[in-house]
Amino acid sequence: MNEINPNYVYLFDQLDIDFDEVKSCVETGTYEGVGSFTFSTYFDEVVTIELAEGLHRRCLELYKEDTNITFIQGKSTDNLTDVVAHIQHPYLLFLDAHGSGGNTVFDPQVGTYGSPVLEELECVKSNLPSWIIIDDLREFDDPNKNYPSREQIVKKVAELGEYEDPIAVNVGDPDHWLFGIPQWYCFKLS
Ligand SMILES: C[S@@+](CC[C@H](N)C(=O)[O-])C[C@H]1O[C@@H](n2cnc3c(N)ncnc32)[C@H](O)[C@@H]1O
Repeated sequence: MNEINPNYVYLFDQLDIDFDEVKSCVETGTYEGVGSFTFSTYFDEVVTIELAEGLHRRCLELYKEDTNITFIQGKSTDNLTDVVAHIQHPYLLFLDAHGSGGNTVFDPQVGTYGSPVLEELECVKSNLPSWIIIDDLREFDDPNKNYPSREQIVKKVAELGEYEDPIAVNVGDPDHWLFGIPQWYCFKLS
């Protein structure tokens, strides 16, 4: 596969991430590994967690040459605390674990339309990320879905540590931006 997601290239272009210092990336929700592979071109080390066994196995095969990506199968909230305890460098946390239809799965405790993002943030408090990026924020403000609100996310991040105000980043055609809600919220540790 080895495909780069241009949206993530655009995202990183908008942020002043010091890649000489922030050498690791932890991603929740691997899906087909395109994000993981894209991140592996920026970071020395990527660890990614996927709940769907089939998707996980496929990624192990697809990316077997990419030795700087570690694929973990399981629920993000069951694995994150241990994963971040073993991260030696300042790291970026990319939260993207949620049911997305097709061959994706979801944690029944969270539901088809929901995200474990608040619980995931709780898991990393013993080794705080230098950057936290929440993906697919547009889904979160949909009143018909069970995602936490942006306010809840900001509050949770503030409880974790001294993070700067979120940087909202958007991508694509502004005519199709839902209610002006950005695609990503990005928090930098002060
Ligand atoms: C939006 S996709 C991830 C896309 C990927 N990050 C990328 O950039 O290409 C969400 C993925 O999260 C997985 N998922 C859902 N709930 C999860 C959970 N609790 N823990 C880990 N993975 C989960 C789904 O099976 C799906 O593959």
